[in-house]
Amino acid sequence: MNAHSAPQAGFGIPFLTGKQVRQGFIDFFASKGHVFVPSAPVVPHDDPTLLFTNAGMNQFKSALLGDNREGWKRVANSQKCIRVSGKHNDLDEVGRDTYHHTFFEMLGNWSFGDYYKKDAIKWSWELLTEVWKLPKDRLFATVYQDDDESEKIWQTETDIPHDRIMRFGAKSNFWEMGDVGPCGPCTEIHFDMGDPATREATYKDPILGVNGPNARYIELWNNVFMQSERMQNGDLKPLKNQNVDTGMGFERVVSVIQGSGSNYETDVFQPIISQIAKLSGVPYSKGPEGTPHRVMADHVRALSFAIADGATPGNEGRGYVLRRILRRGSRFARNMGQREPFLCKLVATLAETMGEAFPELGQRKAYIEQVIRAEEERFMRTLDQGLDRFAKIAAEVKGKTQTVIGGAEVFTLYDTYGFPTDLTRVLAEEQGLTIDEAGYAKHMEEQRERARGAAKFDGSFASDEGWTLLTPTLDSEFLGYATLHAEVAARRFREHGDQVMVVLDKTPFYAEAGGQVGDTGTLTGKPGPAGTPCVELRVLDTVKVFDMVVHKCDLLGGILSADTMKSLTAQVDQLGRFRTVRNHSATHLLHSALRKVLGEHVQQQGSRVAPDSLRFDFTHFQGLTAEEIRQVEYEVNLRIEENHKITHAVHGIEDAKKMGAMALFGEKYGDKVRVITMGDVSMELCGGTHATATGDIGILKIISESSIAAGVRRIEAVTGLGALEAAQRNQNALGEVAKVLKAKAGQESEKAAEATARIKALEKEVQELRQAQARLQATTLVAEKGRLMNGATIIVYKLEEKAFPKESVPMLLEGLAGHLRNGVAVLTQTSGDSLSIYAVSGKEAQAKVKAGDLIKAIGPVADARGGGKPDRAQAGSKSLDKEPLVLAEAEKYLKQALGG
Ligand code: ALA
Repeated sequence: MNAHSAPQAGFGIPFLTGKQVRQGFIDFFASKGHVFVPSAPVVPHDDPTLLFTNAGMNQFKSALLGDNREGWKRVANSQKCIRVSGKHNDLDEVGRDTYHHTFFEMLGNWSFGDYYKKDAIKWSWELLTEVWKLPKDRLFATVYQDDDESEKIWQTETDIPHDRIMRFGAKSNFWEMGDVGPCGPCTEIHFDMGDPATREATYKDPILGVNGPNARYIELWNNVFMQSERMQNGDLKPLKNQNVDTGMGFERVVSVIQGSGSNYETDVFQPIISQIAKLSGVPYSKGPEGTPHRVMADHVRALSFAIADGATPGNEGRGYVLRRILRRGSRFARNMGQREPFLCKLVATLAETMGEAFPELGQRKAYIEQVIRAEEERFMRTLDQGLDRFAKIAAEVKGKTQTVIGGAEVFTLYDTYGFPTDLTRVLAEEQGLTIDEAGYAKHMEEQRERARGAAKFDGSFASDEGWTLLTPTLDSEFLGYATLHAEVAARRFREHGDQVMVVLDKTPFYAEAGGQVGDTGTLTGKPGPAGTPCVELRVLDTVKVFDMVVHKCDLLGGILSADTMKSLTAQVDQLGRFRTVRNHSATHLLHSALRKVLGEHVQQQGSRVAPDSLRFDFTHFQGLTAEEIRQVEYEVNLRIEENHKITHAVHGIEDAKKMGAMALFGEKYGDKVRVITMGDVSMELCGGTHATATGDIGILKIISESSIAAGVRRIEAVTGLGALEAAQRNQNALGEVAKVLKAKAGQESEKAAEATARIKALEKEVQELRQAQARLQATTLVAEKGRLMNGATIIVYKLEEKAFPKESVPMLLEGLAGHLRNGVAVLTQTSGDSLSIYAVSGKEAQAKVKAGDLIKAIGPVADARGGGKPDRAQAGSKSLDKEPLVLAEAEKYLKQALGG
C-alpha cells in the first residue's frame, strides 16, 4: 500500500452493522424468490480432496454440474470459508494489510438453470446502489473479454457510466473451481476506496487501477456465469444448464458501508481487537503496530470456526494448517509479552459477536476454548524445547568451527518446533552464525510438494473419459438396508491400475461413509453364448467418489465388455457385513454410555466401524480411569442384554432434531434424514447399516483408550466373537504368566508382586556384592601396583581385559575413589577398537593433580578426546597402538606435578 492508494474512510453511505449487512443480503435475495440455505461446515468432512470450504459454491458443486437432487432453483446464503494458500492468501501476510484473511464469509446467490446474466447483474447493481446506497461513481464493473452480452446488460440494465465497464482476460474474469469442474466467465464489481481527485488518472492503470496489486480498488463481488465444465484434458464441456454463482466478500462490503477504510476497523473485528487490547494492555493502532491485534483477531476466527465444525490441530492436512495458524497467532501474543495461553481467551468475545448467525460458536464455546488452550500450552512447551534444540545445533556448528546452520536444521526448527525462519535467523545472528537459505528453501519446497500430493485428487474420475459407459446417469439406488443380494447392471466401468472400478444402477454394497467401511463381496456376470466364461469380480471395497458409488474390484475371470457387464449378480459378503453392522450399532450404545458416565460434554468426533473392530473418537479432557471404563462397558453390555429393538425412520431434519436425535457437529445433513432409534437408550441421525436389536451385538469389550489430540480421546473396542477372542487371548496370556510364576488361579498378581519384590532385593544384594568386590580389587591394585612418589601413592597401569572386564571398570574406579586419599591412578584399557584412559585422584592429591587436567594433558598423545572433574576423568581414542605412550606420558605428568 503506498501513500496515494491509502484507503479513505467515510463514503457517505448510511451506516449498517455487520449483522444488518448479512441479513440485508439474504432478505434482498429472498425478495427475489431465493431460498436461504445455511452455510455448509467450513470443514468439508465428505470431501477429502478439499482442505477447507473455500467458496460459497462448494456445497452446490453437484447441482451446478447438473445433479440437482434437492431441486434448487434460486438460493442464497453466507458461507464460512477458509483460505490459507494460494497467491493472495499467504498466511504470513494476513494482518499486515487491511483486507486479507484466513477466515471470511462469502455472501452468495445462485441460480440453477433459472435466471441468468441479466437478472444477476441488475440485482447486484440494485442491492449495492439502491438498497445499500454505495456511491455509483466509486463502482467499476469488469467483464470477460469475449462476453459482449454482459457488457450490453451493464450498459442497458444499469446506469453505470459506460467507460466504467472494463474488459479483462481469463486471469481475472474467467472463474474456475479447480483443475477440473464447473467454470465460466464472470463479471466483477470493484469499489474505489481512494481519493476521487486521482480516480480518472488511475483506474485504468495496470498497477494503480482496477485489478492492479493495490488496496485502493478492491473487488467486492464476483458474479460467475457457470456454463461449462473443465475436463481432465483441458477441454470445456457445456453444462446442461446455465447457472449463476456469486460471491461477495462480507468483511469487505461491511468495511465499505461502515466507511472504515479497513476490514479490521469494522464491528465484525473491533470487539475482538478491543478485547485483545484490554487483556494484553497493549493499545490497538491502525498502523503496523496493530499487526499483532489484527493477526490474532483473524486467526481466532479461523481456529474457532474450524474447531466448531470438528477439525482439531494436528500434524497432517487440515490439522496441520490449523496448527500453523494457531502458532502464528500465539507467537504474536508472546511477542506482546503474553506467557500464558491467550488466543483461547478471545473465543468468548467471538461467540458473542457471531454466535447469532453461527450458533455452533455458542454451543461449542467451552470445547473450542479448551482445544485452543491445550494447543497453545503444547506450543509453549515446544518453543522451549526448540530453544534448547537451537542451542545444541549452534554449539555443534561452532564445535566444528563452521558458521552456517544447515537447511535441514532450520526446517526442523520450523516444522517441528514451530520456529519461524526469521526467529532462527535472529538467534543465529546473535551467535555470529548464518543459515543456509537455499537448503532451507529446498526443504520447504519438498514439503509443499508433499502437501500438494496429499491434497491432489484424481480429477479424471469426475469426467466421462476413461470410462466405458453403458448408461449416462451416475447415482445408484442403495438396496443394502434391506438386502445383500441383487440383480444389477453396470452403468459404467474402467480399469484403474490393476483394479476395475464399477458403478452400478443399484447396489446392495454400502459405500464407506459416516465411519462405516465399504462392503466387500462379488459381482458375477452371466455366461455368454457358446459357453464363454462369465465375468467374475471380487469387490475389495466400495467408496463414494464424486457422488458415484464405485465398487473397487479385482477381475477374477471372464472378459470386461459393455455386453458382459450389463447383467450382474451382486452379493455382499454376509459375515463381514453382519459384523460391521453389530459394531456400528455398538458405537451408538457406546456414545450414549459415554455421555451417561462422563457427562453431556462428550461429543462424537469421528469413528471407524469395520468388521473386526470399532473405533470411537470423542471430546473429553482426561484419560478414563479403570473404573470409568468398567462403568462404560457395563452400561453398554446392560443395554445389549436388554435387547432393545433397533428401528429406523426417515424424518425432516428439523423434526429429527426436535425429537432429540443426536446430530454430529460439522456434519452436513440433507433435508431428509435417517434416524436410528434403540429403545429409549439412543437416537442418532445415521445413514449406516444396523442390527435389528441390541442383543445381536452379543457383547462389547473395550480394548484400548488413548488420546489422539488435545481434548479428543479414542476408544477401540470389539464385539461378539471378536470380544470372545480378546477375552481368550487375555486368559491365555494370564495362563502363561501363571505357569511361569507357578501361581494358582486368582493368585497371579500376588505372585507377580512377590516375584518383583524378590528381584529388587536380589538386585540390591548383587550391587552390594559388586561394590565389595570392587573395593577388594581396588585395595589389591593399590597394594600390588602402587608406588610412592614424593609421599603420594601412584598407580600407572594397563588393565588387561581378561582380568578386568570392561563392564567392571566403573566399579573398580568407584573402589579406587573410595580408597585413594593422597594418591592418583591412571589406568588404560583396550577393548574392541577403542582405547580408554581413566584417571582417579584422591582428595588430598587433588591439590597437585586434578584428574580432569591430567586427562586433558596426556590425551593428545593418543588423539584422545575427553575430560572430567578434579576427582574423576576419562577419555577415549581409536589409536590402540598409542597405549604405551599414554602410560609414559602419565608417568611424566605425575613426576612433574608431584615433584617426584
Ligand atoms: N465462486 C466464485 C468465487 O469464489 C463466486 O469467487
